[in-house]
Amino acid sequence: MKTRVQQLEEIIKGATTPEDLAEIERLVGLAKGRGIGYGGKVFSDIQKVIDETGGKAGALIRVLQQAQGLIGYLPTPVIATISRDLKVPLSEVYGIISFYHFFSMKPKGKYVVQVCMGTSCYVKGGDRILEVLKRDWDLDPGGITQDGRFSLEIVRCLGACGLSPVIAVGTDIHGRVKPGKVSDILDSYD
Ligand code: FES
Repeated sequence: MKTRVQQLEEIIKGATTPEDLAEIERLVGLAKGRGIGYGGKVFSDIQKVIDETGGKAGALIRVLQQAQGLIGYLPTPVIATISRDLKVPLSEVYGIISFYHFFSMKPKGKYVVQVCMGTSCYVKGGDRILEVLKRDWDLDPGGITQDGRFSLEIVRCLGACGLSPVIAVGTDIHGRVKPGKVSDILDSYD
């Protein structure tokens, strides 16, 4: 008799490409010495949330929120699992995910770097900060570094226009950022 986790592991294996699995393993922080079993644990936690709802379609948003809370974002195989178990068509699930801005299908880094491109920050050189992130960190807006440490978002105003140009790293705000100092700032996060 297979355990629930074993069954879920098979679902993961069957429902995803090796690239999807590698991505989940890497980005959920599972790679080092923790195999697919841990991925199974994440799925079993999501399954518990689904079971608690009695599989009711009305629970979709709560299940999506909790799944994202566990993983950090909503990978395609997870969305497929939720769609199947709540019996909500995939198109509807994708519709909900794109409607609510707090859902993300893209992985986020350990630290989310937000570069302000509001008017004040833009005229003071926000675009040069983006150039450094691209050139030295291979980071594009919406992207994530290879090691999963940083992901990059562009925002319209961080509410600190007097300190332009402004970036945020996680919950920290950095003001009057010179492009030449961007890497020093990021290097101070591990
Ligand atoms: S425009 Fe950048 S903080 Fe307001």
